[in-house]
Amino acid sequence: MAVPSDKPVTLSLLRDLPKIELHAHLSGSISRQCLHEIWLRKREEGKLPSNLEDPLLAIPPGKVDYDLKTFFPLFSNYIYHLCFDASSIEYSTRRVLEDFRDDGVVYLELRTTPRTSPEHGISKESYVQLVLSTIDAFNQEQASSKQSNESPFKSSPMKTYLILSIDRRNTAAEAMEVVDLALRYQHRGVVGVDLCGDPSKGDVAIFGPAFEKADDYDLGITLHFAESESVTEKELQTLLSFDPHRIGHVIHLPEGYREEIAVRKLGLELCLSCNVHAKMITGGVENHHFGYWKNKGCPIALSTDDVGVFCSPLSNEYFLAASHFNLSFAEIVQLCKGAVEVIFGGDEEKDRLRSLYKQFS
Ligand code: IMP
Ligand code: ZN
Repeated sequence: MAVPSDKPVTLSLLRDLPKIELHAHLSGSISRQCLHEIWLRKREEGKLPSNLEDPLLAIPPGKVDYDLKTFFPLFSNYIYHLCFDASSIEYSTRRVLEDFRDDGVVYLELRTTPRTSPEHGISKESYVQLVLSTIDAFNQEQASSKQSNESPFKSSPMKTYLILSIDRRNTAAEAMEVVDLALRYQHRGVVGVDLCGDPSKGDVAIFGPAFEKADDYDLGITLHFAESESVTEKELQTLLSFDPHRIGHVIHLPEGYREEIAVRKLGLELCLSCNVHAKMITGGVENHHFGYWKNKGCPIALSTDDVGVFCSPLSNEYFLAASHFNLSFAEIVQLCKGAVEVIFGGDEEKDRLRSLYKQFS
């Protein structure tokens, strides 16, 4: 039965709507409560690094005003010191998957930067294996689970794939290592590579060979793009020369770039709350460049970026877009349908999602 698309847009309707999340960083998606639980367990086991404050104090509930200066150290100085061994990486990954599933996400591309924890026997490769085996187990449980019939819509199990991130501080060799890992685990659900990290760091030109190889072997390519005001045209030219399929944030664009992006019909991963709270844009959601892009022909995937830090689940991102840009339910469904076309998970997944959205006619 077709669902009428003139339904009033409420948060609860948007929670029930089957959603696609394409830009979510694993470590940034861990809730404070989950970090707190890991902290308690590590303290009990006597494994807590000395002086590591309780997450509920270090990242107080309700605090979301992290900017580009305070945001990145949160990972290197805190979260990575808490999620450092197999049990904490598995536990936090699972909780992240549950949170997305509980918010009505049916297709998730989670991304993470391979990292080492030598004291705990974790190499970049074993880190990727840990995350993938947690995703595998969750995908299997999902596939065999009964879908709740409380939702007014026909839903579907959540299916998760992985994107491996190259950090802007990486060397060319480290970037190539990420691409090689992505290729080695392509058969296990790694679907793409990303370029992320502090936008004030690094020279992106050194990553050319890594992205060329990713492209040669059909990995999806997504890049954090024009995030900070200090971005140069030279950098944007270089990033576009990597031939990305999707770009994230897309904020500070010099003259001419909007047209280039529209001609290429790149998938845009737009993160409203993150950009507002981190003051990456001037003003509130109503000033977000989603308003510019919404009718320009580029598929848009509204995304959370770091829901553990900015505390706005994907359903809320859709609600913000709907309320600040006056979108009808039909327009929201149209947005979701657009995102289907730029997923990295292949044709079978696209068919599953297209048929799921057919119920909204
Ligand atoms: P991880 O890759 O799973 O460890 O997730 C955390 C990492 O994602 C951070 O260390 C950053 O490098 C990256 N990240 C998260 N959010 C952003 C963003 O908005 N811009 C650029 N990089 C980000
Ligand atoms: Zn991001």
